[in-house]
Amino acid sequence: MRVLSVVGARPQFVKLAPIAEAMRSRAEHIVVHTGQHYDELMSDVFFRDLGISAPDVNLAVGSGKHGAQTGAMLSGLEPLLERYAPDWVLVYGDTNSTLAAAIAAVKLHMPVAHLEAGLRSFNRRMPEEHNRVLTDHAADLLLAPTEVAMRHLASEGLASRSVLVGDVMTDVLYAVRDRVAGQSLPLPAGVEPGRFLLATLHRPDNTDDRDRLGVIVEQLSSLDLPVVLAAHPRLRAAAERWGVDLERGSIRVVEPLAYPALVSAVASSAGVITDSGGLQKEAFLLRVPCTTVRRETEWVETVELGWNQLVGDDLEQLGSAANRPRPAETEATPYGDGSAAQRVVEALIAAQSPARQ
Ligand code: UD1
Repeated sequence: MRVLSVVGARPQFVKLAPIAEAMRSRAEHIVVHTGQHYDELMSDVFFRDLGISAPDVNLAVGSGKHGAQTGAMLSGLEPLLERYAPDWVLVYGDTNSTLAAAIAAVKLHMPVAHLEAGLRSFNRRMPEEHNRVLTDHAADLLLAPTEVAMRHLASEGLASRSVLVGDVMTDVLYAVRDRVAGQSLPLPAGVEPGRFLLATLHRPDNTDDRDRLGVIVEQLSSLDLPVVLAAHPRLRAAAERWGVDLERGSIRVVEPLAYPALVSAVASSAGVITDSGGLQKEAFLLRVPCTTVRRETEWVETVELGWNQLVGDDLEQLGSAANRPRPAETEATPYGDGSAAQRVVEALIAAQSPARQ
């Protein structure tokens, strides 16, 4: 079986790591990087730290408006798919790279599998929500991380193509957590274990609205504990555009963190403040309270279990939410047991069309 994975943005490199490992000896695995993320700290460092071989091809598409970025990926991917003629095109998550690869493949009648299928925010202002819905409806095999995702797929008439595999981010998080546990990685900005909050912000809804960004930064800057803000390039660019000074009060701005450094920092922190999807779950899996600067979340289990609080409409509540006491402990495992990637490979083998096996 030949599988061609298409990745392009930071969270996809994290998801690729356990898949690439599970593919070894079971399938021929080609990796195409669209180049959506290209900075050393947003891309290369993930391949190095997570032991992923360099991509077979890098389209180096880079940044751009949605149409231009997605279109450049589409036209770059088409000849590659024709050249490799894979049994499966495997696409990850919800970025423009995901959608471009799904469209390029289905137009060539190539089977598409979508990893992390069935997530919904029901917020149609998010580009990621359109990427998810369109990719799920285009794909032949929907690899869902949770029961909730399976229900969303069923309600859209996609049950017969869906398989519950668990969450591959749990696989990689557990592996890296165990690896960094024995090392003492320095904490960013020289903060002390248990005496800081870790923050990230990159959603356009937060960064691209001058007033909203101003209030969020104001709230972070007046927290009692130091706030380590690992700044995504989109945040830095927006702050500069709006004249918002990030480095003030309690805030300590640092570069985006490599994955082992991120895991180590979350595990040592008193809490996480974020608008990232992955980080909400990583905080939950490491049992660190999370405050999410959004109106809704795809990872509703983290909220239902009390480990995540949404602060979307009333940003003035951000400070008090981040200071809330720790929730009740839980043994729940809504994101699987850390062996989702093996199930993905099995599902791909099982669903291969008989003619191509
Ligand atoms: C993208 C994904 C989002 C994912 C996120 C993880 C889409 C629509 N969004 O958002 O689902 O959660 O990645 O980070 O695909 N930039 C750099 N260097 C880089 C990458 C980006 O400077 O290596 C800057 C560019 O100015 C770019 C901006 O960041 O315009 C935003 O990048 P983009 O790929 O458009 O989306 P993200 O916000 O990163």
